[in-house]
Amino acid sequence: MKKICGFIFLFLAIEILDFDCKQLEGYFTKYNGNNFNQIDKINQFKCAMECLKLETCKMAIINDKMCSIRHEIVPFNSIEMDYILIKEINNSLRLDSNFTLKMTLKNHSDWVISLAVLQNGDLASGSGDSSIKIWNLEDGTVKMTLKNYSGPVWSLAVLQNGDLASGSWDSSIKIWNLEDGTVKMTLKNHSGPVRSLAVLQNGDLASGSGDSSIKIWNLEDGTVKMTLKNHSGPVRSLAVLQNGDLASGSWDSSIKIWNLEDGTVKMTLKNYSGPVWSLAVLQNGDLASGSWDSSIKIWN
Ligand SMILES: *[C@@H]1O[C@H](CO)[C@@H](O)[C@H](O)[C@H]1NC(C)=O
Ligand SMILES: *[C@@H]1O[C@H](CO)[C@@H](O)[C@H](O)[C@H]1NC(C)=O
Ligand SMILES: *[C@@H]1O[C@H](CO)[C@@H](O)[C@H](O)[C@H]1NC(C)=O
Ligand SMILES: *[C@@H]1O[C@H](CO)[C@@H](O)[C@H](O)[C@H]1NC(C)=O
Ligand SMILES: *[C@@H]1O[C@H](CO)[C@@H](O)[C@H](O)[C@H]1NC(C)=O
Ligand SMILES: *[C@@H]1O[C@H](CO)[C@@H](O)[C@H](O)[C@H]1NC(C)=O
Ligand SMILES: *[C@@H]1O[C@H](CO)[C@@H](O)[C@H](O)[C@H]1NC(C)=O
Repeated sequence: MKKICGFIFLFLAIEILDFDCKQLEGYFTKYNGNNFNQIDKINQFKCAMECLKLETCKMAIINDKMCSIRHEIVPFNSIEMDYILIKEINNSLRLDSNFTLKMTLKNHSDWVISLAVLQNGDLASGSGDSSIKIWNLEDGTVKMTLKNYSGPVWSLAVLQNGDLASGSWDSSIKIWNLEDGTVKMTLKNHSGPVRSLAVLQNGDLASGSGDSSIKIWNLEDGTVKMTLKNHSGPVRSLAVLQNGDLASGSWDSSIKIWNLEDGTVKMTLKNYSGPVWSLAVLQNGDLASGSWDSSIKIWN
């Protein structure tokens, strides 16, 4: 979340304000940590709602370095809204309060299908041109081009030690040394494109493939710890749930939740009529899935 620009959804009945919102301007500017109490939080929240109503501020999740917008993160009522974040209340800044295109990164010669944010904040991109590029987001230049594939780079994941893992059309997974751009390890056991990668809570790498299986890898020696088989189509998406379970979305229209102790299926979620292309775990632990059929579903 720290490095992502995006919007949070708004809800809410606005209560009558019983205090002066003007004091907030200074408050937001001065706020520098967790040093405020519940009353302040509630007042901040009400003011935030008021300024949103008056359109003198915007609400978003923003990284201030990337988006150059002063903001504060205000934890509030974690059941209904985990974080709200409020742009500086300043009418003169209204004109730049929309998110505008900041930069276009151009150096790939084919489609870009995978992205990952490295631990140092750099952006990595995987492309149909068979390369991975690491971008300098200060000036939009390419820091490094990683080339050892002979096919599109479908998936990327950042390991717990900071290394970059990539999965490709050529069925292999590569672990890259980002110091010099060389390949540290090539993992081969899939018999179809590696379309999805995820890092488990214990640090192991999981990969989903066009061969309909998911493999859990031992990154010490590059061997397969476990092969999970129950999908009847390519595994296009993976996500790790808050309890550590692995969720997988497949071309077979289902989502499966796996028991990583014994490799069995804990649960099969079916409500799609087409491939499940993307998965993400929400802050409240629910699973979101996106599909070929144009819908996004939220699973309890
Ligand atoms: C509001 O923004 C303008 C333009 O950035 C700045 O000059 C001004 O000092 C700001 N006002 C306050 C009260 O922060
Ligand atoms: C933000 O963008 C919308 C849609 O382009 C536009 O109608 C609105 O006026 C913009 N607001 C500001 C503050 O620039
Ligand atoms: C990418 O950048 C390199 C180095 O600047 C340049 O030689 C190459 O032509 C660029 N390729 C594309 C597709 O833009
Ligand atoms: C990948 O790297 C290996 C080992 O350095 C090399 O033998 C191989 O030719 C490279 N493959 C491609 C497609 O660049
Ligand atoms: C994957 O590993 C298993 C067990 O070592 C082996 O039997 C199988 O042939 C391998 N498959 C591929 C496609 O490399
Ligand atoms: C998935 O598991 C279920 C329950 O064990 C089994 O009935 C089904 O045949 C399996 N499907 C595939 C494609 O392996
Ligand atoms: C998905 O769930 C809705 C609501 O429960 C149901 O009406 C619909 O038939 C289901 N669709 C499929 C394809 O299972």
